[in-house]
Amino acid sequence: MTAQLIDGDATSKTIQQEIQDQVEQLRADHGIVPGLATVLVGEDPASQFYVRSKQKRCAEVGIRSFGHKLDADATQEEVEGLVAELNANPEVHGILVQLPMPRHIDEESVLAKISLGKDVDGFHPVNIGRLAMKGREPMFVPCTPAGCIELLDRYGVEIGGKEAVVLGRSNIVGLPVAMLLLHRNATITICHSRTADLPATCRRADILIAAVGRPEMVKGSWIKPGAVVIDVGINRVDDPSAKRGYRLVGDVAFEEAREIAGYITPVPGGVGPMTIAMLLNNTLTSAKRAAGLI
Ligand code: GUN
Repeated sequence: MTAQLIDGDATSKTIQQEIQDQVEQLRADHGIVPGLATVLVGEDPASQFYVRSKQKRCAEVGIRSFGHKLDADATQEEVEGLVAELNANPEVHGILVQLPMPRHIDEESVLAKISLGKDVDGFHPVNIGRLAMKGREPMFVPCTPAGCIELLDRYGVEIGGKEAVVLGRSNIVGLPVAMLLLHRNATITICHSRTADLPATCRRADILIAAVGRPEMVKGSWIKPGAVVIDVGINRVDDPSAKRGYRLVGDVAFEEAREIAGYITPVPGGVGPMTIAMLLNNTLTSAKRAAGLI
């Protein structure tokens, strides 16, 4: 049987409309406009694209964005000075430092300087620490992992008591999504490059989250019949027949997998659009907190 598609484009549009309505309400009732500051260090084209997309989506829902760009040779002090300025600006409710930064910048130190209450990416070490602990609540949850869970919830997928396998252990996706699934009472396995038998481990999964950045690595035969497959990968592969000379594929061999899975996210149009929707939602939450509304 062919899997049901989990449509991230449609779901993120629904969420974006919900956010837009709340932003409008906040402005009308309290005169508050949520604000997101983006910090881009250097000229990385992918990062420039992501930051532009975030600013565009902010504008669509009525969130003000403050774009800050620093040269690739900016110093640690300059980056942290900018963060301090944004921490102090009451019009800024969320601060997003686009990663990766140039290699000479100490990323951990920069992220630790962001006010906990403005850490809409959820990458501050205290927020990650709280996410990793039982009974603690981070101020914000990282956006891509939150988007994965939101898709499961909105499609009515039960998480509690299920076997969840996470492929990848990155700070941005693999690790935090595993923590979120654990909080929701799934039994978790985290796989990585040293995992002995990846196909067999993946085949145990009721919920499989692929976040390794390897094009179409997960084959149909790795999937348990009826499993829910969330594909976080966005990989470019050469395709001379495509207008741009490449196409985007996920970490999962989609055509094979959809014949076996129960639910599956496509790439593009799956998790990708959910990431920004969650960022907008975190920024709205921060503005409501700053206004003492929640
Ligand atoms: N780089 C890749 N993903 C992300 C993200 O979610 N947030 C930030 N700040 N940088 C990223």
